[in-house]
Amino acid sequence: DAAEKGGYEHYMRKEIHEQPTALRQTLSGRIDLDRGDVDLDLSFPQGYLESLEEIQLVACGTSYYASQYAATLLEEFADVRATVEIASEYEFDGGRDPWRTLVIAVTQSGETADTLGAIRRAAGAGARTLAVTNTLGSTVTRETNDTLFIRAGPEIGVAATKTFASQVTTLALLAVAVGRGRGSLSTADARDVLENVRGLPGAVQQVLDDEARVTEVANECLGSDAFFFVGRRFGYPVALEGALKLKEISYDHAEGFAAGELKHGPLALVTEKTPVLAVLTAGADGSETVNNLAEAQTRGAPAIGVVSDGAETGSLDCALEVPRVGVFEPLVANVYFQLFAYHVANLKDRSIDKPRNLAKSVTVE
Ligand code: AGP
Repeated sequence: DAAEKGGYEHYMRKEIHEQPTALRQTLSGRIDLDRGDVDLDLSFPQGYLESLEEIQLVACGTSYYASQYAATLLEEFADVRATVEIASEYEFDGGRDPWRTLVIAVTQSGETADTLGAIRRAAGAGARTLAVTNTLGSTVTRETNDTLFIRAGPEIGVAATKTFASQVTTLALLAVAVGRGRGSLSTADARDVLENVRGLPGAVQQVLDDEARVTEVANECLGSDAFFFVGRRFGYPVALEGALKLKEISYDHAEGFAAGELKHGPLALVTEKTPVLAVLTAGADGSETVNNLAEAQTRGAPAIGVVSDGAETGSLDCALEVPRVGVFEPLVANVYFQLFAYHVANLKDRSIDKPRNLAKSVTVE
């Protein structure tokens, strides 16, 4: 066991640190910068992408948040309506044309019963289906028309970390493929996106190199009553994911909100013992979120913000920086949240790799 952890005390920390390698694997051989395109080896029928009306993503937990990130990327790059549904709530309905609807199951394990149930309902209605998974030979790969592997490598910790990064990155490549296929993404714009995607492994490494600061912040927050995570646009799913990670492994009360929603209710819970962690980078409309954060600071809440490299940090109690990679900066900011969750849980001596009541793959509906 100790050897498998490669010198780390927990699989989770090992897997957080494996992210630059995981992302390189995810991208390997898939990007063609000259053409401004990607090669994903998918077998869409001739004319299929042009005729698509809607892409539906179905998933649970962390994979659901990765899907939320991806839906916005798909709408932005591919000019196609993209919706996300929690797999256990999914029905194929609403008078959709199955031929013009692509349903994507996003599941690290490929064995999540809720997600398999959703993809079966979609296939039963005649929709084309695609699996985005980390697991070769998993059930989802046998039940869908196509599979796209995220290639993150094995993930043992119950808390998903590197697979989230690889899911969003794989789906970003898919968004480029769909955008190019539909003629809605120009060569120049695709190149810009792909340049940022190629910057991800290095950007994540820079955050990992800043781990000591995160340990300090985690230590300062140990006496907190609860933790709030906020963000806009791509920062919103990252806020939800940050909160899930913390509650999962530290057992602390943590909630994620769209930053604009703080003032519509959750602000009533804010005190000097509820740190607010905010995504303020590019891709997250940080300048607007700063105003929401200020309302929490007025009530005494410590404000921890993740900002773009070199950006104004205003009155933050702690500013953590991410390198400039455009709309992927919130994905990099998420690595700070993973480290934060890990260190809060570790300082509390929690069972990090196997949190109470949870399983790595949930095979019951
Ligand atoms: C994430 O940390 C959780 N362990 C959980 O939410 C997980 O993402 C969810 O159960 C979905 O799993 P899957 O990706 O294997 O389908």
